[in-house]
Amino acid sequence: MRTIEWDGDRDAVAMVDQTKLPGTYTTYVAETVDELVESIRKLRVRGAPALGGAGALGVALAAHRNDATDCEAFAAAVRDDAERVASARPTAVNLSREVETVLAELDAAETVAEARERTLTRAKAVCDRDVERNRRIGEHGATLLSDGDTVMTHCNAGALATVDWGTALGVVYSAQEAGKEVSVIANETRPLNQGSRITTVELRERDVETTLIPDNASGLCLQEGRVDAVVVGADRIVLDGAGEFADGAVFNKIGTYKHAVLADRHDVPFVVAAPRSTIDPETAAEDVEIEERDPSELREIYGTQNAPADVPVYNPAFDPTPMGLVDYVVTETGVFEPPLDRADIAPPDATPAADD
Ligand code: MRU
Repeated sequence: MRTIEWDGDRDAVAMVDQTKLPGTYTTYVAETVDELVESIRKLRVRGAPALGGAGALGVALAAHRNDATDCEAFAAAVRDDAERVASARPTAVNLSREVETVLAELDAAETVAEARERTLTRAKAVCDRDVERNRRIGEHGATLLSDGDTVMTHCNAGALATVDWGTALGVVYSAQEAGKEVSVIANETRPLNQGSRITTVELRERDVETTLIPDNASGLCLQEGRVDAVVVGADRIVLDGAGEFADGAVFNKIGTYKHAVLADRHDVPFVVAAPRSTIDPETAAEDVEIEERDPSELREIYGTQNAPADVPVYNPAFDPTPMGLVDYVVTETGVFEPPLDRADIAPPDATPAADD
């Protein structure tokens, strides 16, 4: 199955439960908006484009669960639920963006039944479009890789972080499809270990030679010349900001920034692969909310105490990499070298239309 999709039998949102990986590959079905919001917060579904799918399907779920018969009351209740979905995680712009995309269908609907149908059709279109875009990102990005290259990646920007195929890992899969042998060094990505739990699993499923390293070994790997390119995804790309963010920034999993610094020091290309729906031209870098997660993620490791129970913790989930450290941004429309030109990278119609 796809990472996230509509379950037509139950009128619900089905997802691969990523909290169970690598041990078990199971599906979780969110039957209510509360269950979907909890799934987003707990990272059953995660990764910016997959969160876009969750946001889109979440509006359809809200429309299907709401039993108001009066159109206005129905729309108001769906909007309230949609707001809870959109704010479940703050940093990945795809979540709130695709909630808005599907909410637009409420205005066009004349009956409650039509609103349910329209939101579902639009949500499915958002998901389908994500897969198409990732395929194109992969094809463009693969041109940056040569046969025999080793890519370092951080977190998981693969099929499981998107509706399917992936962004950073999509580049690897497309290179592989083009006949290039590319291997991957996967950073473990503490504290939630998306690299070890998720990236290694999906790379091996696709027969990509994979080596897992602790995050602290990445500098040594670059120093030893083991890496030909660092390729990561993005949760939000902004185009301006103050000081070092004047040309914008890439917000991605915590630790991305230090890999960009290391790649720069070792003259290794630093590549960001993301759909244009991850680009937020409206917000300056300093105004992006960086999600802070629960201290227990550091004080405990899988339920075992890892630190004094009351030690103060700072646990940010993302960091901004200044655009000046990025060599290439790959979107579904091509490969761009920063500084990014607004006209190329984020045309005004970047937000998808239902029948796009
Ligand atoms: O906290 P997560 O697991 O949702 O963080 C995911 C990332 O940081 C990914 O690199 C990013 O969303 C790009 S996914 C194609």
